[in-house]
Amino acid sequence: MGYIVLVTGASSGLGKSIALHLHSLGHTVFGTSRNPKQYIDTFPFTLLELDVTIKESIAHLFGELQQLNKPIDVLINNAGVGITGPVEETPLEAMRANFETNFFGPLAMIQRVLPLMRKNKKGTVINITSIAGYMGLPFRGAYSASKGALNIMTEAIRLEIGNQGINVITLAPGDYATDIASRRFHAPVINNSPYQKAYQGSLNTMDSHIDSGNDPIEIAHKVAVLIEQANPRPHYVVGSFIQKFSLTLKKILPQKAYEKLLKNHYKL
Ligand SMILES: NC(=O)c1ccc[n+]([C@@H]2O[C@H](COP(=O)([O-])OP(=O)(O)OC[C@H]3O[C@@H](n4cnc5c(N)ncnc54)[C@H](OP(=O)(O)O)[C@@H]3O)[C@@H](O)[C@H]2O)c1
Repeated sequence: MGYIVLVTGASSGLGKSIALHLHSLGHTVFGTSRNPKQYIDTFPFTLLELDVTIKESIAHLFGELQQLNKPIDVLINNAGVGITGPVEETPLEAMRANFETNFFGPLAMIQRVLPLMRKNKKGTVINITSIAGYMGLPFRGAYSASKGALNIMTEAIRLEIGNQGINVITLAPGDYATDIASRRFHAPVINNSPYQKAYQGSLNTMDSHIDSGNDPIEIAHKVAVLIEQANPRPHYVVGSFIQKFSLTLKKILPQKAYEKLLKNHYKL
């Protein structure tokens, strides 16, 4: 029997791929978008309205699901946005806005869904984080921090909820070919800024990594496997060999050697 799955940010990229794949496997999928009317008749699954940064929008979504009498078995906290810029020059409001979507949004969803899952004595929450959340990447500091914060919060939630049949885990993708780069907040490259050359260079590297990224279906396949696991690990990583290996290197190399590796990679 299939699960009832809620996928935030299912209008594009990884979320769309996850929602389509789980639907094709026979699960009942509810995807979300801030503008579902843009996508009428586009998807074989139901697309509901949700902005994870707006309390009322979250309340409305859960009201709709309750009316439909659909107990959520699985929540995929996928909605997220990118942000780039030198930390020194990125407006704090832009960083706060990023955290609202990437960190507080998923947490707000978790706060709504856990009581429902507890009632049903089962459920899985998968927080889509990022390999970038395991290290502070240059000119992506706010993004790395928002995803790293979600990683740590996931660990805390797991310890708090104990063994209630509910699994809360993270899945950290490497680079996948989606439109995330075109939607992210870019702090402007400021003329004569001490960061101008390095920031522009890093932006070019980041964009080429995303453009040449793997197929999002890999993430969808992993999600399909994880939701079937009775006792999953706290964290999973999916990406190219080198992206995954960079996490192993971070664990085994001396800190300054790892930092040097990143500096060489980003030509800093
Ligand atoms: N692509 C990668 O290489 C990569 C790597 C690591 C992690 N990730 C993470 O994977 C997730 C999906 O990224 P993606 O690459 O698929 O990007 P994407 O194509 O830009 O999709 C982002 C999705 O999030 C939704 N969204 C954005 N802001 C929202 C908000 N305030 N409330 C609700 N939904 C919102 C968008 O839906 P609407 O605009 O329709 O509302 C869209 O469906 C993100 O969390 C991202 O950080 C991606």
